[in-house]
Amino acid sequence: MAKNDLSLHERVTPDLIRSKKGRQRITFVTAYDFPTAKLADETGFDLILVGDTLAEVVLGHETTLPVTFEGMLHHTCAARRAIKRALLVADLPYGTYHVSEEDALRCAVRFVKEGGAQAVKLEGGQNRAPLIRRMVCAEIPMMGHVGLTPQSVHRFGGYKVQGKAASQIERLIADAVALDKAGAFAIVLEGIPREVAKIITEQLSVPTLGIGAGPDCDGQVLVLNDLLGLTFRRPAKFVRQYLNGAAEIATALARFKADVEAGAYPRDTESYHLSAALQSELPHILGRIRSSRSFGGSSGVAHAQE
Ligand code: KIV
Repeated sequence: MAKNDLSLHERVTPDLIRSKKGRQRITFVTAYDFPTAKLADETGFDLILVGDTLAEVVLGHETTLPVTFEGMLHHTCAARRAIKRALLVADLPYGTYHVSEEDALRCAVRFVKEGGAQAVKLEGGQNRAPLIRRMVCAEIPMMGHVGLTPQSVHRFGGYKVQGKAASQIERLIADAVALDKAGAFAIVLEGIPREVAKIITEQLSVPTLGIGAGPDCDGQVLVLNDLLGLTFRRPAKFVRQYLNGAAEIATALARFKADVEAGAYPRDTESYHLSAALQSELPHILGRIRSSRSFGGSSGVAHAQE
């Protein structure tokens, strides 16, 4: 057992998430690295997702499409090292399940074996139900994702709310039902009208997790950088910003820069010191060094401990 892990039965499980449906709202947030995953876990979130929004909010891409499997795995490993209790979900990026089911299974297995993910998420409805079934047979708890699925951005012609036309409503419901029947333990509903999300939530046996899908879902998820105000993009209508993170960080950086320029950082108390005995011996030491002509030496930077 890794040193910061709780024993398996103390962690959130897919069964626990299922059992919350209709009883207790499920809390879910994304995180992409050790510090944010640790904070989310210690706050008590049920689910933490290393989402492919990593591409946009951390790596600076315009869409989620460019992030690679290896990139997602790298960040999943970082989140794993931080999380003790929450259920860690890893997001299959674009391209990993669009060519063959074998590719998809191999990637999902690597998320579990190498990344320590306890569940895997992929986007799509009825077209992905057979794959979800295979993954579940391979002992991988699966999370579905329907509605405004960002990996379909080019097919949708942009990030557009889905399920607004009568013809789309039936398909959306059928998509969610197919994933439920295929064995997904929870389904993300993204960017769909509240009324449609409510119908889906009532029809499914497993919890729905809404993002831009109104308050009637069984749980809610937000992208961490959106809620922290750290995205540098116009927030979607559903985003509630709980912190002006960009302004807070910019202020801290400006203060550090100003302190350096003014010579106000570091203070004497923020410096390491020689012992009093060595300080008084210092002129002799310097004299010996100068006379042996070895003055100059090499430099090395380390996080020294006193
Ligand atoms: O990648 C992501 O962050 C997601 C959430 C929006 C659910 O899929």
